[in-house]
Amino acid sequence: MEIATFLPKKYTESIDNGSVTWKSPSNIALIKYWGKKEDQIPQNPSISFTLDACATVTTLTYKKREGNQDDFSFELFFEGKQKDDFKPKINTFLERILKYLPFLKNYHFTIETSNSFPHSSGIASSASGMSALALCFMSLEKELNPTMTEEDFNKKTSFLARLGSGSASRSIEGDLIVWGKHEDTIGSNDLFAIKYPYKVHEIFKNFHDTILLVDKGEKQVSSTVGHNLMHNHPFSQQRFAQAHENLTKMQSVLADGDLDQFIAIVESEALTLHAMMMTSMPYFILMKPNTLEIINRIWKFRQESGTHICFTLDAGANVHVLYPENEKDKVYPFIQQELVKFCQNGHHICDRIGFGAKKA
Ligand code: DP6
Repeated sequence: MEIATFLPKKYTESIDNGSVTWKSPSNIALIKYWGKKEDQIPQNPSISFTLDACATVTTLTYKKREGNQDDFSFELFFEGKQKDDFKPKINTFLERILKYLPFLKNYHFTIETSNSFPHSSGIASSASGMSALALCFMSLEKELNPTMTEEDFNKKTSFLARLGSGSASRSIEGDLIVWGKHEDTIGSNDLFAIKYPYKVHEIFKNFHDTILLVDKGEKQVSSTVGHNLMHNHPFSQQRFAQAHENLTKMQSVLADGDLDQFIAIVESEALTLHAMMMTSMPYFILMKPNTLEIINRIWKFRQESGTHICFTLDAGANVHVLYPENEKDKVYPFIQQELVKFCQNGHHICDRIGFGAKKA
């Protein structure tokens, strides 16, 4: 797939003003994206579960401006309040996507956005936030070019969301999404994410993700700094090769419903991500004592109960606890009784696998 595919054709319609709202979910990677090249191109393929409860709702109101303009014009409201400190990030995003949405300077935009999860919960909002915004801009493009198919809409939205935040490319659709070129995955590519194209066993259709908020503080390492640490990393090449191998292994795991192998891949991916951070220069430990306490208790409970509870981590201290629907009556009480006490103020979010963004 060529980048040129995403350059717009001539628009057939003229639109003066309007507004659109999208609710876009977060996602949790099972095989992690960590390391990128120029222009938000990932160093390795990743696969994620789309989430359901953790989402961003964004309303974009647009009004045509007079004459030719050479700057962007927008206001930003986060949870009802004007938020000028988010503006530079949005401006960079607009600069990056202008080539593909050439109308962006012809409108004044009001962007109103809010998250379903608590602000500064330590949950990455870039995936849901950037995908929600990309969806809104694409809805305007669809008004200008109503013949666009749903497939082209989704591809281009994922392509644009990627330019805002890599993981955002995986938040448009559900329920299992692959981003990044992988030899053994047909259609996979670095420019946009695709729905996982092979057979998935029933057991993976209803997975739960209970997110334990161990540390709700500001991120210690921004994702940009984190990805850059992979540039001169002594183990980077092995890591990128491992992600390719893990995705190949994951295909039979997903087809057969092999929960033991699923756990082995997912937990190893989480710990490898953190190992990469611990072995970079400068080095970081992003887990907290309570993260380790939770992991140890999950392992002990798994052994004693025979359930298939497992964990994954993002670039922080919070723990995503994954388990299948048919084990929730055993696993959730354990989480409440034994794990929630390690969360900041007991905060946790009960989420589950979801099916992608929705227009309001
Ligand atoms: C650890 O998508 O936040 O969550 O492209 O710089 O915005 P940018 O990075 P981002 O990185 C997410 C990394 C991760 C793993 C993953 O989601 O695959």
